[in-house]
Amino acid sequence: MSQTDWRKSVVYQIYPKSFNDTTGNGQGDLNGIIDKLDYLAYLGVDYIWLTPIYPSPMNDNGYDISDYYQINEQFGTLDDFKKLLETAHQYGLKVMLDIVFNHTSTDHTWFQQALADPESPYRDYYFFRKGRNGGPPTNWQSKFGGNAWQYEPNSGEYYLHLFDVSQADLNWENEHVRQSLYDIVKYWMSYGVDGFRFDVINLISKDRFEDSDAIGKEYYTDGPRVHDFIHEMNRETFGDREMMTVGEMSSTTIDHCIRYTQPERQELNSVFNFHHLKVDYAEGEKWTESQLDFHKLKEILIEWQLGIYEGGGWNAIFWCNHDQPRIVSRFGDDSTEAMRQRSAKMLAIVLHMLQGTPYIFQGEEIGMTNPHFDKLSQYRDVESLNAYDSLQEAGKTEPEIMRILAQKSRDNARTPMQWDDSAQAGFTEGEPWIEVSDNYKEINVQQAMNDEQSVLQTYRKLIQLRHNYDVVTYGNIEPLYMAHDQLFIYRRNDEHNSWLIIANFSNEAVAIPEDLDTTGQTVIENEPDLLAEGKIPAYGAIVIDQ
Ligand code: GLC
Repeated sequence: MSQTDWRKSVVYQIYPKSFNDTTGNGQGDLNGIIDKLDYLAYLGVDYIWLTPIYPSPMNDNGYDISDYYQINEQFGTLDDFKKLLETAHQYGLKVMLDIVFNHTSTDHTWFQQALADPESPYRDYYFFRKGRNGGPPTNWQSKFGGNAWQYEPNSGEYYLHLFDVSQADLNWENEHVRQSLYDIVKYWMSYGVDGFRFDVINLISKDRFEDSDAIGKEYYTDGPRVHDFIHEMNRETFGDREMMTVGEMSSTTIDHCIRYTQPERQELNSVFNFHHLKVDYAEGEKWTESQLDFHKLKEILIEWQLGIYEGGGWNAIFWCNHDQPRIVSRFGDDSTEAMRQRSAKMLAIVLHMLQGTPYIFQGEEIGMTNPHFDKLSQYRDVESLNAYDSLQEAGKTEPEIMRILAQKSRDNARTPMQWDDSAQAGFTEGEPWIEVSDNYKEINVQQAMNDEQSVLQTYRKLIQLRHNYDVVTYGNIEPLYMAHDQLFIYRRNDEHNSWLIIANFSNEAVAIPEDLDTTGQTVIENEPDLLAEGKIPAYGAIVIDQ
């Protein structure tokens, strides 16, 4: 691929803990990833992104880093990592690392030194503040529940943690902090990594600590110096290299994302936002049982597609990651095998025909579903366990809470990758750290590779289409029939092609709008002769070259 062609690439996200275990300890490892690189090459992706693999107490599965310069023993050694990088490159796969710079683990030596000596220069690496009226400095809420300030008895001060109490927020106002972080980026670049995903990077600029009418978001989301900091990091580290960079942006805006990604601003290549996934949150609240608001989904997707395109920015596009329930169980239908397959393919077609860089989360490409856990003991995730407590305090019954967790928990994405129909889905020879979904005998990679009609084959074809047709990458987007209650219809256009995409998000056949011209060459569809009856079947999807 040439210098600028990163825009045509597709990224595959690996959650190493749940990918492939070669030691029998029930947790995935780097050697396990190496063993599956041939599969990823077969799938045809360009990059793999590994969620954090550094030493960590694993309270938040690695997003609580205690040493940025080493590999977590659970996953392997630095030599294993070098081998992974080398082997991936031999397969033509590039490797992106996940970097968590909004916070460190409280086990990190900086934090430990800050605790040990209130006069230590490391104290200012974090946000230690005096309390107010016998309570915390502000009323901000942690994203994982409870107040965002933790009392520290030795000094009598509180420290800020926007996430778990073991994830202390770093003070980017301190220049030593920033330089230390840039050194980490340069260190991993020196191994030859090809890109980075920056965790919640739009939360790094905070300089006012006041009570909030909401949960504090307005003080730290896209904060006052965030663009300066990211620009500085770009200039001091990856800016002049061919490096794929994506920032995870929490509760951000289109305007900010344009600024994060316009090439001339020299910040990042692309951004993740989450607005399109908050369309099954009742009144904005995640921990509720709720249905997809289809109109809202379309409106948000289109608003972002048009906004970022017109502003000259760049989107990362995705349905799934390690924090989101499985898309086929969420916006599709996993109640029967036929509908699972068809709706997983439909969702893939809709997403991969959008503008931006697509991300595939491990297992999505074979249509893995939520595991439908029904007992608290099956859950591992810190956020889900906190949510259980809060829901209980709010008076919800046990069955209600179990239904909410089964719909919303991050563990839905974290069950082991389903490789084959042998014990534990071929993920481990031991006891997996989290249960394997019980449908692994039907849904697994081996089955999908042997079945020409599998969800996997749709993903392979979509990746090839992106590589082969510029309209998918560079074409504009034209929304059509936005008011339709079941169909998502849009067009992608460039000077050579005009592709019409029609997708049925409902579980019944729907008539094609009378004035819609559907003539042309089929590029891809999720059932043979999809429109033969003049209708589009339940969860049908087609792309037509006109
Ligand atoms: C991001 C990660 C998530 C983690 C959080 C705190 O949202 O994707 O897994 O818990 O940041 O680091």
